[in-house]
Parts: sequence; C-alpha cells; structure tokens
Amino acid sequence: MLEEVLLPPADPIAAVIHPDPWPYYRQLRETRPLYFDAGLKLWVASSLAVISEALQHPALAVRPPGEAVPAALQGTWAGEVFARLVRMTDGAFHAAHKPAVVKAVRRWTLEDVGRASQAAAADLGPRLGANALISGLPVQTMARLLAVADSALDATCAHVQALVQGIAPGASETSVVLASEAAQALTAQGVMQGLDAVQAANRIALMQQSLDATAGLLGHTVLMLRRHPALAGAADQSLSAMRGFVTEVERHQAPIQNTRRFAAQALQLAGQRIELGQGVLLLLASGNRDEALNPQPDTFDPQRSDRRSLGFGAGAHVCPGAQIAIEIVAACARQIRAGARFDAYFGKLTGFRPLGNARIPVFEER
Ligand code: HEM
Repeated sequence: MLEEVLLPPADPIAAVIHPDPWPYYRQLRETRPLYFDAGLKLWVASSLAVISEALQHPALAVRPPGEAVPAALQGTWAGEVFARLVRMTDGAFHAAHKPAVVKAVRRWTLEDVGRASQAAAADLGPRLGANALISGLPVQTMARLLAVADSALDATCAHVQALVQGIAPGASETSVVLASEAAQALTAQGVMQGLDAVQAANRIALMQQSLDATAGLLGHTVLMLRRHPALAGAADQSLSAMRGFVTEVERHQAPIQNTRRFAAQALQLAGQRIELGQGVLLLLASGNRDEALNPQPDTFDPQRSDRRSLGFGAGAHVCPGAQIAIEIVAACARQIRAGARFDAYFGKLTGFRPLGNARIPVFEER
C-alpha cells in the first residue's frame, strides 16, 4: 500500500493549519532563523534569539506605519474601538493605558475565573456542539466576569463574534457593518458601567482577545488529554494538576502560532536591515520548540520545571490574560471530564479553522 506523503507547508502561514508543522519550524530555525519570504512579502523570524530581539525592539510596532486603523474600519464604531486597544497601539498611548488593563484583569481571583468558566460550561455544554463550545465558552466566561447580566450573555457573545469577524483582514463589507453595530452595543455596555471610551474599548478587548486564542487552547487541551491518557489521568487528580497540563499544552501546541510587527523606521534585526514599513512575522510556536528556551522542547511534559513559553507573547505587549486563559480551560476541562461526557462530546479531529495565526482544532460534530 502506498503511504500518503505529508508535504511540508508551503509557507509559515500555511503552517498554522498544517497537520504537523513542527519539523518545518525546526528546519526554518536551523537553516534561516530570519529570512525574507518573497511570497508573503514578510520577514520571518523563527528562533528564540530573533523572536526575542524583535519583541523587545523599540522600532518594531504592532501596526504598519500610517495605518493605525485598517482602512476598511476607518470612520466606523469598530474603527473607534480598534484605535483605542492596547493590543493595537504602541508608545505613549500604550504605556499610559496598559497598566489599567493589567489592573482590570487582576481584580479577579482564580476562583472567580473557575466559577465563571464552570457556569459557562454548564450553560453552553448542553446546547452547543463542540466547535461552538470552544469559541463560546471563553467569551461567555469573560462576559460573566465583566458583570454582563445573564439575560444579555448570548447577545454579548454574538456581538463579540461579529466584532472579531469584521475586524479580521479581508472581512466583507457586510461583516464590517455588523462589527460596527456590535462595537457600538458593546461600547454602550461599558459606558453604562461608568467607563470612559478607552476603558470601554479595552473592556471589549478582554472578551474579543479571549475568543480565538482560548478556543485554540481549549481545543488542543482536549486533543492532548485524549492523546496522553496516563498524563490525563494524573491531570484529573486536582485542579492544580490540570493547570499544569494546560500550561504545557500552551507551550507545546502554541494556539497563537505567530504574531506580526512592522518597522516604524529602518532598523537592524539579527544583523539584517529591515526597511521602513516592512512586516516581520514572529513564529512564536517555533520559538517554543527552540532548545534554547526549554530542554527537550518536543516532549510533552506537564511536570516540566522552569517551563518557558513565548506563546503569550513577551515584552510590552505580553498577554495580560495568560493566567485567566489557563484557568478557564482547566476549570472547563475538569467540568466536562467529571461529567463523563468528554469522549461522547468531542468528535475526532478533522482539521483546523482556516486562520493565519490561531491554530484552532475542528472537531467532528456528534
Ligand atoms: C481570557 C483570555 C485572554 C485574554 C483576556 C487576553 C487578553 C490579551 C490582551 C488584552 C492582549 C494585548 C496586550 C497588549 O497589547 O499590551 C493580549 C495579547 C496577547 N495574547 Fe492574550 N488574552 C487571552 C488569552 C490568550 C491565549 C489563550 C493566548 C495564547 C495561548 C494569548 C496570546 C496572546 C499573545 C501572543 C499576545 C501578544 C500579541 C503580540 O504582542 O503581538 N492570549 N492578550
């Protein structure tokens, strides 16, 4: 019988949804840790050293110069929100507002997060399929933490989904219109809570940023629990063991596989000249498998000591939601496994959602 040959991904964006991108990432790290990809028209950084240098570089910004807000969103409510997100800004604005976002996130204890996640799982589990659940659960958990009334949870989550779809690059005109209506409604919630425009925008971000990234983390946790039954049995023993398991899933599978930076001025990166405006794709998932970050990086080991990960970013834009995300997933995983519906609920893996940075498993619906 002929064995099916798995071709390597065509480029680092295709790698996000490739069944096994890890040998390709290794080859990039070992042969060309920073190169210009003519097809993508992007520099590509794949080693720990280059990614770390880029994440700390003052001339590498999160938005292209002269396009703080994507053209399609300018003059819309979605554009107003986008312009105020710490995720999308640098320099003085980012430095002024990030501390408040970090403080807002720290107001919740892990117990608060776990309770909200389990309440969301109890609500959504019986009425959603696996693929809708992994997206819906993180957003509903964040909405609960953000004091959205029970009666408004579904509408709020639908607004967040619409916003995410409409601000994605290449979104249709209709999606942009829907995203704008959603941004307006979500901003009104924040204003009703006494927030100013910047606070209201970053309140939305706590739901919007949770969506794809945590859907990926939850989906990969399901897959790894299934792939490693003995380790899963150990994780079932306590919440802290499940947290350790999820934390290793994050490092090993890196649900956010890459992020981008743009040259605000010409600069040197790893000895290469990057011209003003050029983009750099940072392969966080590859960095996580660099031996310089962790010994035996390809081994999945929830007991790993001194684990280090780039999966939540690093530097000024490091994710403030890392602990929350791990807790949401750990609490939800425990809830589902305790109900003995785990195997019945998640069908087999059929692929990954067609996205360019988040690697989100797609499950066969049961
Ligand atoms: C409840 C869940 C989450 C929340 C509320 C959240 C929130 C945020 C926010 C507000 C930022 C922007 C920070 C800034 O630009 O200064 C951010 C950045 C980031 N988050 Fe999260 N996040 C969540 C889950 C995750 C997960 C599960 C991952 C991946 C495993 C992730 C990966 C990242 C990365 C890589 C960045 C940095 C992006 C960059 O610098 O280009 N996040 N997150």
